[in-house]
Amino acid sequence: MQLSQDVMTANPHAVFAAMRQQTAVAEIPLGDSGINGYLITRYEDAKRALTDPRLAKGPTNLIMPPEMVKAGLSKHMLSADAPEHSRLRKLVSLEFTPRRIEALRPRIQQISDDLIAAMAAKESADLVDDYAFPLPFQVICELIGVPMIDRDDFRSWSNILLDEFMVGTPESVAAAESMESYIQSLVARKRSEPDDALLSGLIQASDAGDKLDEDELTSLVFLLLVAGHETTVNLIGNAMFLLLQRPEVADSLRENPDLIPNAIEEFLRYESPVKTATLRMAVEEVEYGGVSIPAGNLVFIGLMSPNRDESVFPEPDAFDISRTEAAQHLAFGHGMHFCLGAPLARMEARIAIGGLLSAFPKLRFAAAESELAWRPGMLLRGLQHLPVQLS
Ligand code: HEM
Repeated sequence: MQLSQDVMTANPHAVFAAMRQQTAVAEIPLGDSGINGYLITRYEDAKRALTDPRLAKGPTNLIMPPEMVKAGLSKHMLSADAPEHSRLRKLVSLEFTPRRIEALRPRIQQISDDLIAAMAAKESADLVDDYAFPLPFQVICELIGVPMIDRDDFRSWSNILLDEFMVGTPESVAAAESMESYIQSLVARKRSEPDDALLSGLIQASDAGDKLDEDELTSLVFLLLVAGHETTVNLIGNAMFLLLQRPEVADSLRENPDLIPNAIEEFLRYESPVKTATLRMAVEEVEYGGVSIPAGNLVFIGLMSPNRDESVFPEPDAFDISRTEAAQHLAFGHGMHFCLGAPLARMEARIAIGGLLSAFPKLRFAAAESELAWRPGMLLRGLQHLPVQLS
């Protein structure tokens, strides 16, 4: 089955549903690269693929444009295979601890309250620009211990690098250069002026004498800054989009906030912030659902598609915050690359959505749904803007 970027952006669910029906592995055209892309569409296959060592991350660097494999941006755990992956994740986990994340709770509440107060001064707002983006971005900056300066620059570099698949344009080369030198200067500053935030801890972190080198630190900060906000902004934005479509569900969450945690799992399942896992390459021939993927080809493991697989989620296109199996979604991945930030993302989403619902009981769309645009590309699922009427 062929796949166009436009259809993927506008209505990926219909495309994925047709694919799941037809085949366990859909072919994806990758232009003139001579390499084929294969998308794994079904739940059990995707789960198995996410733990399959024959689908490796490292070799994808061989075919990526050079700006994507800059030493200072790509030497992180999400582009590493075992055993290097465990080494990097272990060093990071020494500092990225549940205690450090839990300690952020009051600060996240404060950031959410401040953003809500700023919006409350207006009649209308853009829930993406005014809330869903700044909240996780500020949280991840404070967690790492980097200043909020250059937020707009950072956001635009990050968007350029993530929205285009296998970029190689002058803009993406420039974005990668700027990103790398910006992060290198942050790391250098922390070396000379340590504090008690995460980055200073990571500079010191040592496992039996093993430490993160300079490129690994830069790459890790890049990964955390990008993964820490590009995804969570979509979770908060997509959740609010679903609730604006369903005022009665929003009301029931207002009346009974205890329902919010399971509702978040259903938001993650139903409108997954990440459409496909990051790229893997088949290092030997593999077979999924009777379809063979020859060695040397790229594999996209679906996350959004499996999350609507009817064999696991009955009536998958029905949005239901009381679904008992919602948390089985693959929105945070599975296996060794399972999202390191999942507890943080869940905490942010609970505070963000709960706060917004109780502050604005009359929240409604300020644009026709047909005017809302989704971000392009194979990787992310999120709205560009979400205009709302607040009162
Ligand atoms: C709703 C929000 C989020 C979603 C949906 C999400 C999704 C994911 C997914 C699907 C993966 C695995 C990708 C793969 O296997 O190719 C992943 C990995 C990762 N995520 Fe998240 N993420 C979110 C929030 C965060 C946050 C807030 C942080 C950091 C503070 C974070 C840090 C990471 C890191 C470091 C990895 C790599 C883990 C590894 O390779 O071992 N994520 N995330």
